[in-house]
Amino acid sequence: MHSNGNSYRSIGCGEIDLTYATKEVTMSGWVFRSRDHGGLIFCDLRDRSGVAQLVFSPDYGQEIHKAAHQLRAEFVITIVGDVRVRPEGTENPDIPTGAVEVYVKNLEILNRSEPLPFQLTEDIEIAEANRLKYRYLDLRRPEMLNNIITRHKTCQVVRDYLDKLGFLEIETPVLTKSTPEGARDYLVPARMAPGCFYALPQSPQIFKQLLMVAGMERYYQIVRCFRDEDLRADRQPEFTQIDMEMSFVGVNDIINMVEGLIERVFWQIRNEELPTPIERLTYTDAMERFGNDKPDMRFELELKDMADLASMSSFKVFLDALASGGRVKGLLGKGMAGYSRREIDLLTAEAQSLGAKGLAWIKVKDAFESPILKFFPENVVRQMSVRLQAAPGDMMLFVADKERVVNDVLSRMRLDVAKKQNLIPDSNKFVWITDFPLFEWSEEDGRFQAIHHPFTSPTDEDISRIMEGAEIDLSKLKSKAYDLVLNGSEIGGGSIRIHRPELQKEIFKLIGMATAEAQERFGFLLDALKYGAPPHGGLAIGLDRLVMLMTGAQSIRDVIAFPKTQKAACPLSGAPSHVDKKQLRELYIRLNVPDEKETLE
Ligand code: AMO
Ligand code: AMP
Repeated sequence: MHSNGNSYRSIGCGEIDLTYATKEVTMSGWVFRSRDHGGLIFCDLRDRSGVAQLVFSPDYGQEIHKAAHQLRAEFVITIVGDVRVRPEGTENPDIPTGAVEVYVKNLEILNRSEPLPFQLTEDIEIAEANRLKYRYLDLRRPEMLNNIITRHKTCQVVRDYLDKLGFLEIETPVLTKSTPEGARDYLVPARMAPGCFYALPQSPQIFKQLLMVAGMERYYQIVRCFRDEDLRADRQPEFTQIDMEMSFVGVNDIINMVEGLIERVFWQIRNEELPTPIERLTYTDAMERFGNDKPDMRFELELKDMADLASMSSFKVFLDALASGGRVKGLLGKGMAGYSRREIDLLTAEAQSLGAKGLAWIKVKDAFESPILKFFPENVVRQMSVRLQAAPGDMMLFVADKERVVNDVLSRMRLDVAKKQNLIPDSNKFVWITDFPLFEWSEEDGRFQAIHHPFTSPTDEDISRIMEGAEIDLSKLKSKAYDLVLNGSEIGGGSIRIHRPELQKEIFKLIGMATAEAQERFGFLLDALKYGAPPHGGLAIGLDRLVMLMTGAQSIRDVIAFPKTQKAACPLSGAPSHVDKKQLRELYIRLNVPDEKETLE
């Protein structure tokens, strides 16, 4: 921090060290802790730069020593004092200023503080609702300050990197038309157009494509996105993207540019050198080997297909699953042979809660152990153990079901096993997932939907087939979409876009969107594509998630200054809240809330 000298301070609290010994300093900040040792009063003074120990001694000024008795936590004070080397044995090596202390000769109380709703100095668990209600106090905690600083620095590195590569930072509208990223829109009533609504952008997707049509060639924006969806530890209703788009590029150009960015961020923020190029996995391989499209690559435990071996057994559960077109896959329960019956029951219950009908297991000890052993010839079990690389002390776990269920359950059990058995090293592992399918079947809507968004380009091969009007299995089409995954968390996603209007129209048709509907919703994009749109593509990184993973925060709420709760509320401001009848009348809105009490809770 730059503490340019003024009447409040000649230096920041965290900046004094032995080189200042015997010098006079002026410092301002908050009383962090104070301890009255009878004769001497010690007080930690905190500002953004850190903490300094103040000493109030009667020898140094009776009046001031007396005044210091009034100091309470979070009082705001200015002091003038002399820096002294701490007596031997009283140094505090844990803080940068721990070799010195400041004998105060002048004290001014600038402001008092009421007793706080929670202590800032103790590492006790504070209820999050309370932290959010008094966020301005919560943010005073050094841990939170550090998160905010890391976030700021990350943005600086990003801006610098992209600027040097010729990216233009361009703002896009917040009051706009619905953009499809798969979540519900937040709507804003339009007073000037009765009955009409703006949508808050789920991302600037269409606008950044329009900027490519406009010839900007390289765009970025650190931008707020709004999505009304179910919230989790890594999801907020408003969150921030590092949003990028480039013209005249292919998949590799974008991947290389983003790798450079991530490499730079990790180096500048964490002093960590990332091994590049980052490993790439196709979507199909990721699903096969890890059961999901955001695998945590810090540990192995790959899922293995067991169909061939399962079919040599007489275990009905496995045979039935295979006969009905399902899958049988196995997972290594590393070091779990010692699990008790009760622990296995818990594991099974967990698998069931994730959708499995059951969990089959075989322990590997001197011999194999399992209630289902009788259904398997010995050499089949042996081959299973070889495939899973199971050694004595391990347990093999199996799920048989529809492919989706098997992958879903085993991918989550994989994480579970790794956590329980302490197999996750303290390191960072990125992976690109590429070649996503273009569409997926939506049970809810009874039709195919774009997995990424409907502007994503199919592969060249699939483009030819689509444009030739060939017979097409929509579930088999592949796209030029890619995700960036860090430690099992999706931190970025993007694609090469469709830049020809004919293809864009075909894609809308394939997902069952009538021309009229496509024109109504995305006509402005379809129109723009007619006027010489360059080939283009991009990616957006979830800034909150990236900073969360870099700081080791448990939730993205901890890296956002004023986040919302799981219920999308802000305990600090009280949003969302009722509004005046007059405001509603001006917007031509009449409420139709079924049971007001219920909805308010
Ligand atoms: P996508 O929807 O994959 O892509 O979003 C990009 C990244 O944003 C982060 N993210 C979130 N972070 C916090 N809370 C949320 N609710 C949330 N939703 C998403 C994730 C995700 O990887 N327009 C495209 C990008 C493109 O194609 O260029 C898009 O928005 O880290
Ligand atoms: P059961 O034949 O139902 O007594 O099951 C025998 C064992 O197989 C139990 O350990 C079940 O948890 C397990 N099991 C049942 N259904 C499945 C399944 N679909 N996949 C894997 N294991 C299963």
